[in-house]
Amino acid sequence: MAENSDRSKNEITYALFDMDPAVYYQERFAYSNVVGVAAQESRVTRGSVAYQKASNLMDTLRSRVNETGNPALKVLEVGCGSGTFGARIKRFFPDVRLYGVDMSSSCIDIARQNGFDEAVTCDVVQGLPYADDEFDFIYTMDYFGHIEFRSKDAMIGELQRVTKPGGYGFHGIESGFVDYLNCNPKDPEDVVRKYVYMEGHIGVETLEDIVRRFSPFFEVVKAFPFPIRPLLNISNVMTSRFWGEEFCSAFAEIDTPRTRAAADLVIGWVNRYLTDRLLEVYGDRLLRSELGPSNPLIDTMLTGSGFAMITVRKSL
Ligand SMILES: C[S@@+](CC[C@H](N)C(=O)[O-])C[C@H]1O[C@@H](n2cnc3c(N)ncnc32)[C@H](O)[C@@H]1O
Repeated sequence: MAENSDRSKNEITYALFDMDPAVYYQERFAYSNVVGVAAQESRVTRGSVAYQKASNLMDTLRSRVNETGNPALKVLEVGCGSGTFGARIKRFFPDVRLYGVDMSSSCIDIARQNGFDEAVTCDVVQGLPYADDEFDFIYTMDYFGHIEFRSKDAMIGELQRVTKPGGYGFHGIESGFVDYLNCNPKDPEDVVRKYVYMEGHIGVETLEDIVRRFSPFFEVVKAFPFPIRPLLNISNVMTSRFWGEEFCSAFAEIDTPRTRAAADLVIGWVNRYLTDRLLEVYGDRLLRSELGPSNPLIDTMLTGSGFAMITVRKSL
């Protein structure tokens, strides 16, 4: 156990890890090669596990467009990065008015090329630069795990402030248990420190904690882990040896870009099929705390997924 185990989550900050987010994020997610990437996607890539974050986002947006009968919804992505998700939205929902905000000006330059109607550079922990009740739909992807615990509630309050009454939010969030409280943030060999440096994940928490945080501000209409546990994409299966040595050795014998794509397509379809069936059977909130008596199969599938998706609604 490290010396600082009496820390609270609110003391887990970038400064504790000697990181300055403004410097760290300026170039970290600025990918100029993603401009136009949405146009190159095929049925194969769209079926993969990785893409299905986007597919769930788009399905949620599609139901908003259909239910409101308004194709020109005003949509905001907070922490938009280089805008790959926005590019997909503009490709499939060209009439949506798409706004983006990110603290990295390099990312914002690329997001504009990816079709955002308006994109601004801003550290949103200081507040969102928009008026009350401005957006029909707000989404984040891979964003909340980058926000310090002490800032999360105020951030969600800001999302609520700028969402129209009856408006929706969709959030793809890094989830799981990371032992921040028992790490040594100054030791370059510490696994949590390495993890935080790798992507900037300073504030990852479980799906139950995420839902608890959003609940005072929004009705959480849907919440589920994704991917469900055994069905990671094939690169993660191989890297983590998740399906065991025997599987990895066998797969290595046929490992080519095309077989990887084929494997991801199959895993993606199975993943989506099982997630949709679980949601049908258990309701829209796949939370361990709400599923009743423990069931070993369901528990195995729902724990430690690494990512979760929630859909929220602001009351009228
Ligand atoms: C992992 S990237 C995700 C980008 C994009 N949503 C995507 O999925 O492609 C996280 C983004 O959050 C942004 N970010 C982190 N903290 C922020 C803050 N306080 N204000 C604005 N943007 C922030 C980073 O600059 C980075 O672009």
